[in-house]
Amino acid sequence: MSSESRQMVSSAIAAQSLLLLPLLLFLPLLFLCSPVSAQVSPGSTLYASRVNQSWSSPNQAFSLGFVAAATDPSSFLAAITYAGGPTVVVWSAGGSAVDSSGALQFLSTGNLRLVNGSGATVWESNTTGRGVTSANLDDTGNLVLRNGTSSVWSSFDHPTDTIVPSQNFTVGQTLRSGRYSFNLLSSGNLTLRWNTSIEYWNQGVNSSIQGNLTAPTLGLQSTGILYISDPSLSSYAIIAYSSDYAEGSDILRFLRLDPDGNLKIFSSARNSGSKNLRWAAVDQCEVFGFCGNLGICSYNDSTPMCRCPSQNFEPIDPNDSRKGCKRKVNIEDCPGSATMLELDHASFLTYPPELSSQVFFVGISACRLNCLVSGSCMASTSLSDGTGLCYLKSVNFVSGYENPALPSTSYVKVCGPVVPNPSSLEGTGKNKGWRLHAWVVVVVVLATVLGLILLEGGLWWSCFRNSTKFGALSSHYTLLEYASGAPVQFTYKELQGATKGFKEKLGAGGFGAVYRGVLTNRTVVAVKQLEGIEQGEKQFRMEVATISSTHHLNLVRLIGFCSEGRHRLLVYEFMKNGSLDDFLFTSEENSGKLLNWEQRFKIALGTARGITYLHEECRDCIVHCDIKPENILLDENYNAKVSDFGLAKLINAKDHRYRTLTSLRGTRGYLAPEWLANLPITSKSDIYSYGMVLLEIVSGRRNFDVSVETNNKKFSMWAYEEFEKSNAENIIDKRLFGADQDLNMEQVMRAIQICFWCIQEQPSHRPTMGKILQMLDGITEIERPPPPKAAVDGSHSGSSINVSSNISALSTFAASVPPPSSSSRQTSGVSPVTSGRNLEKASSSHLNSDSK
Ligand SMILES: *[C@@H]1O[C@H](CO)[C@@H](O)[C@H](O)[C@H]1NC(C)=O
Ligand SMILES: *[C@@H]1O[C@H](CO)[C@@H](O)[C@H](O)[C@H]1NC(C)=O
Ligand SMILES: *[C@@H]1O[C@H](CO)[C@@H](O)[C@H](O)[C@H]1NC(C)=O
Ligand SMILES: *[C@@H]1O[C@H](CO)[C@@H](O)[C@H](O)[C@H]1NC(C)=O
Ligand SMILES: *[C@@H]1O[C@H](CO)[C@@H](O)[C@H](O)[C@H]1NC(C)=O
Ligand SMILES: *[C@@H]1O[C@H](CO)[C@@H](O)[C@H](O)[C@H]1NC(C)=O
Ligand SMILES: *[C@@H]1O[C@H](CO)[C@@H](O)[C@H](O)[C@H]1NC(C)=O
Ligand SMILES: *[C@@H]1O[C@H](CO)[C@@H](O)[C@H](O)[C@H]1NC(C)=O
Repeated sequence: MSSESRQMVSSAIAAQSLLLLPLLLFLPLLFLCSPVSAQVSPGSTLYASRVNQSWSSPNQAFSLGFVAAATDPSSFLAAITYAGGPTVVVWSAGGSAVDSSGALQFLSTGNLRLVNGSGATVWESNTTGRGVTSANLDDTGNLVLRNGTSSVWSSFDHPTDTIVPSQNFTVGQTLRSGRYSFNLLSSGNLTLRWNTSIEYWNQGVNSSIQGNLTAPTLGLQSTGILYISDPSLSSYAIIAYSSDYAEGSDILRFLRLDPDGNLKIFSSARNSGSKNLRWAAVDQCEVFGFCGNLGICSYNDSTPMCRCPSQNFEPIDPNDSRKGCKRKVNIEDCPGSATMLELDHASFLTYPPELSSQVFFVGISACRLNCLVSGSCMASTSLSDGTGLCYLKSVNFVSGYENPALPSTSYVKVCGPVVPNPSSLEGTGKNKGWRLHAWVVVVVVLATVLGLILLEGGLWWSCFRNSTKFGALSSHYTLLEYASGAPVQFTYKELQGATKGFKEKLGAGGFGAVYRGVLTNRTVVAVKQLEGIEQGEKQFRMEVATISSTHHLNLVRLIGFCSEGRHRLLVYEFMKNGSLDDFLFTSEENSGKLLNWEQRFKIALGTARGITYLHEECRDCIVHCDIKPENILLDENYNAKVSDFGLAKLINAKDHRYRTLTSLRGTRGYLAPEWLANLPITSKSDIYSYGMVLLEIVSGRRNFDVSVETNNKKFSMWAYEEFEKSNAENIIDKRLFGADQDLNMEQVMRAIQICFWCIQEQPSHRPTMGKILQMLDGITEIERPPPPKAAVDGSHSGSSINVSSNISALSTFAASVPPPSSSSRQTSGVSPVTSGRNLEKASSSHLNSDSK
């Protein structure tokens, strides 16, 4: 047999050399019609330098030889190609390229080996010593190494990225292309993965056969049907038809895992040298990593394209947009000034096995904020498809998809300020929208200012042209601006003047000190000097615009702002009666400041209305994040006005740990447990804080006070125990009984029960603000509140929060709520319990509720 084949080879070579001269002209014809034998004996070698040399199948449909690699024409693959040219590669040795001095050696030991120019083995069949006597490339394109007549090794059993008809693809085999891989599972499911870990496609077979398969095999019929066969099946289960199913003759159809990560069926007419796409498994932009890290995939007509999210990024390889993007400034290099770049109709691909992305049910602004404040979060995606899901990506590889039809908004952390892409890059992309938005804002602002100036001019002309009172003019001007509702921009000097050099300090909240000031029109204002804001000017203005767009009787109104250099100040209307804490926790002597129950109830209602508006009624839902008596101001009629809303958005995470617990994430005692567990910030976190405030309104005591009277427990925990024992009257502020002859006990009891509903540890158990309003009003019956869980034992929370299906998030929460540690002012007892991590955090971050 072998001598026979050797004879055939040598005779062919002899024929070639004899006919060399005349045949040079017909060289292509020669290789089409009279190739080297179909059967190759050990000792034969193919050289990369001789591209026209090949071993062919008897029907001439397939040949094994060197072809230039698609990615780099100076390197070569030892490949089986389909008739018509090097474009249709159905197998290659190891999928590896070698230089032009490389060779494919069929050694006399029976080993088939690919070596590069320096003689190093790049790939081998590992068939040494197994009695291999010949290599055959058969008519189906299978290269088989045989020991006599039995197959020892075949290329069909060692596929690279392609399956051809009559090839059986079985469980355990893998198609690979770059970082992508394709597998058949024993369930019959087909999967596509990126970097082996991220599974971005998992398709099951017909469910009526699922579960019964014993040894599924994937195959492709020459007509173009992709199917699964199994011993348990009488026929096969169809996965897909190629779009040219059963058309034409002499067409090779093949299934390939393309370098773009998609599984495709192509067809190639014999000798055409070209291939046509007939089926693809996945929407190309849903292929994980198609546009590289931080790249955004979108379609130009039907062509997928890659780009970077904004000018804050640059392509890793300007010549290959698929390589992905990198930040021009690393996040680590801009502590404190990171912002979130918003991408409308975009999502960062998230597939189930990717555990490093956390899933939550929160609103869009919380989705953005949660990512911004988390040190590890790089990007987030908020779905607007009704699920309310928010994905936080803390992985260092994210893959974006943008499509006008996608119901989602994504955010990616950048070192501010945001520099949008020029709109010329965009067909229908979001940038256009962004720009349009910006333009609309600019035009509206300009028009408003112009209108005001004209109006002012007209008024001045008609009313004051004979007047010399320019002081009056200036105050009139400011008044007009206030009336328009748009925030007024002040210069730092103006505010310095108004506050007499920041002399009269009203208080110091988490966001900075507040000073009394008088504007030129004699309006008394509260000027808040923000600290820790290193946000870009534009971002700041946008947040200010959001804050000033909220108008409600129970919200403190923002009059103006100042943004100059490092200075960021906010100017609010002045509240004559200061903040609620002054009234609730006032000492015995100062009883003139005591509020009766009617006033307290009105304040509770007003506060609830203000928060309801923030949560449910204004355009962008605002989670306050810092509800506490210090932030509930009282006007001259003791109407409650909530202040400091929208500020959480302004603060950037400078030192994440520090910031997280101090200014941004509210104040100890009012913090919902999920804050401390690094679970998401939702409106339900505000509800918790409101519940604590309501308890304080009823009791006149700080919810976290610990004293002998409360059995060394936090007041709020003790209060529930008293409530349980039907001793609710012990909770109520003693001073109320004295001052109020006919205390509305029914109302008080309602308030107490609402408190315990609000401070439920499980956010989903807490009512919404709207519901609370109804309960306060007595419209809704109140069920008896269950224990707020942590109340059972003042320090350890054994409960879990079911807001997330994510295991890592749950384990984070295994950490307990903070111990009732002492505050610097109201200390009446130090908690006997400490729980390491949180105590450390709490004390190191100067968590003081007493901001005033
Ligand atoms: C051949 O392969 C070896 C090992 O893979 C590598 O070190 C060497 O640089 C290669 N030589 C050429 C010429 O490609
Ligand atoms: C395969 O080769 C081995 C020796 O390596 C020999 O013993 C065996 O008989 C061969 N099998 C066949 C089917 O030829
Ligand atoms: C593929 O599987 C079928 C059915 O099990 C079998 O008849 C056929 O020989 C297999 N083909 C190859 C190339 O192994
Ligand atoms: C890809 O996988 C490798 C090894 O499995 C891992 O080290 C690497 O971090 C992964 N890359 C990314 C971006 O996930
Ligand atoms: C197979 O795919 C179906 C969806 O087509 C999926 O529900 C099922 O979980 C998958 N099974 C496995 C084992 O991946
Ligand atoms: C699933 O298979 C059954 C029988 O094999 C067939 O009747 C049914 O139409 C198939 N369903 C789908 C969705 O292909
Ligand atoms: C498995 O096969 C049995 C018969 O062989 C059939 O009765 C049963 O419905 C099948 N189960 C599924 C899940 O298709
Ligand atoms: C989108 O496709 C059109 C036509 O194919 C082309 O002219 C245009 O340059 C493409 N746009 C981008 C951004 O590539």
